[in-house]
Amino acid sequence: MWFAILPSSQLKNKPVGLKRLGKDIVLWKDAQNRVNCIEDICVHRKAKLSKGKVVNGNLQCPFHGFEYYGDGKVTVIPAYGRKYKVEDRFRVKNYYVFEKFDFIWIWLGEEKPESAPKFFDDINESFSYSDYGELWRVPFTRSVENQLDVMHLPFVHYNTIGKSGKTVVNGPVVKWIDSDKFFFYVFNEKEKGFIAKKPEELKIEDSSIYLEFIFPNVWQNHISENVRVVAFFSPVDKESSIVYIRFYIKLSKIKFIDRLVAKSGMAFNKIILHQDKRIVETQKHNIFDDLLVQGDLPIMEFRKRIVKNKELFKDFLP
Ligand SMILES: [Fe+2]
Repeated sequence: MWFAILPSSQLKNKPVGLKRLGKDIVLWKDAQNRVNCIEDICVHRKAKLSKGKVVNGNLQCPFHGFEYYGDGKVTVIPAYGRKYKVEDRFRVKNYYVFEKFDFIWIWLGEEKPESAPKFFDDINESFSYSDYGELWRVPFTRSVENQLDVMHLPFVHYNTIGKSGKTVVNGPVVKWIDSDKFFFYVFNEKEKGFIAKKPEELKIEDSSIYLEFIFPNVWQNHISENVRVVAFFSPVDKESSIVYIRFYIKLSKIKFIDRLVAKSGMAFNKIILHQDKRIVETQKHNIFDDLLVQGDLPIMEFRKRIVKNKELFKDFLP
């Protein structure tokens, strides 16, 4: 399974050491500008490789100059001389990496990846964007679920995006598009003395708002054809995750102007994000004691997949 872990802009010429998916990893770009990812620990005497540098496309340990190839194998031990053929046991774990849409994904799972990570096909080069990221002191399940939550708007965002006070949550309707992607349609309305409708009583065509989610950690709010908010929820460890937000705009056909609009619009997105963070960080980390209600349907769909992958996610879920 592919996990979105880092915006491409944060990986330049130097190696970058990160904690992601409960593991210490190091990323670097080789001579072909491809991203490589291995465990951030030298097989020799366990120094952090991310403190080293890139030499001829390989990652060089800062301690004794051991050079690592992208597959995790040591290719040079300088103390033996560069001609020496290094034994196969000198290796660390490597991870499959994919870079696209200005983002980096790593593969989690024993088997090899069969296809590329999914993204939103309708976001193309004609969009400009601004971006922002911050650490939340909750596991990624909590940060993802906040973005699947259509009930909190009139409460958490009572003076911003929830201002209209639509507290009654009809549905919502969740529709799986393929094995990893679902859409969810929102039918919230003001309290008028009626009981919320069940999803089967609703028609997708009657909803004016829909959002998209790609399991495990990419989300899109389809505000309009030309305005989108995308979020990546990158698991750090059992206690924390990083939320990366992108505000995509395609309004004027002039990239420079769109970028300016996207940049100024990010200020508002940050206000919304901080209204969420303030509450979400108070949640208990373990999701399995929650008592969910009908309005939590998108969260329930997400959890079905979480439960299926519990073993695979054990390093970063409480
Ligand atoms: Fe929110």
